[in-house]
Amino acid sequence: MKTLICYFSGTGNTKKVVEYFGEQFKANGCDTTIISIDKEIEIDFTQYDSIGIAYPIHAFNAPSNVVAFCKKLPKLKEKKQLYIIKTSGEPLKINNISSTKIRHILKRKGFILNNEYHYVMPYNMIFRHSNAMAYRMWDTAQKLISVDCKEILAKKKVKLSFFPFPNLISWIMRIEHWGGRLNGTKYSVNEKCIHCGMCYRNCPTQNIKVDEDGNFHFGKKCLMCMRCSFFCPTDAFKIGFFNSWKVNGRYNFNDPDNHEQKSHKNFCKNSYKKYFKRSEEKISSNS
Ligand SMILES: Cc1cc2nc3c(=O)[nH]c(=O)nc-3n(C[C@H](O)[C@H](O)[C@H](O)COP(=O)(O)O)c2cc1C
Repeated sequence: MKTLICYFSGTGNTKKVVEYFGEQFKANGCDTTIISIDKEIEIDFTQYDSIGIAYPIHAFNAPSNVVAFCKKLPKLKEKKQLYIIKTSGEPLKINNISSTKIRHILKRKGFILNNEYHYVMPYNMIFRHSNAMAYRMWDTAQKLISVDCKEILAKKKVKLSFFPFPNLISWIMRIEHWGGRLNGTKYSVNEKCIHCGMCYRNCPTQNIKVDEDGNFHFGKKCLMCMRCSFFCPTDAFKIGFFNSWKVNGRYNFNDPDNHEQKSHKNFCKNSYKKYFKRSEEKISSNS
């Protein structure tokens, strides 16, 4: 059995999840190739039995580069099993519509969706979760992944629950795709910038340019992935209209006792509770 996972990750959550899938697939005897869609590459799908597409949810949709990647894929000569992996900051059911667009595209190209999984990971925008919450999310995701990868290998069909008007809502919310591009032109850096170059070297769309005098120029290709502002070592970024939602700095996923949290302590409290309960039930019924 050979599988390929193509992923996009702005700030590392989806990458972390995908890499753990890779470990678990390998532990179950499945040869796994993982590629980031940041760089354009030719893929020979004929060598794989199944294909995974993974992304972070942006405004209840897949990010625009993931949609573009799916559009560019060739029509398969032979149908292939598809699984979709998503991460997001909150467990609301409306997130289930995020794959609506790419599911239609991929179906036309011969990909047969068999499994779809959603893992809640700490927010990289809107507000900062506590490290204790990040620890709990990651711990839960790992336990779920070890069950979920067996379901994929066993070709057990798993779909996320239905949310009403998926086409209409996800179409409206794709306003984020061009809104993000517009907002990206409003980014700026302040005097805290130490010109380390991390932001422009790592931007997935090369949207950040710095001229000879050290002035920053932001183009119209921003994906709002937050990689530049999240990893900025001096928190020098202003992210346009959404600056009050900025989250800066890596999470420590190994610190279950650190409950420090800046805001939104009760945001979607019940849906997080339900997510952990549902996950625990699935994990314990499979152990
Ligand atoms: C522009 C943007 C929009 C987002 N929209 C949503 C959303 O609609 N629902 C949600 O639960 N999380 C949302 N998030 C949070 C991310 O999906 C979440 O933090 C994800 O795990 C980040 O993954 P990454 O580190 O691989 O980029 C959004 C984040 C960004 C930057």
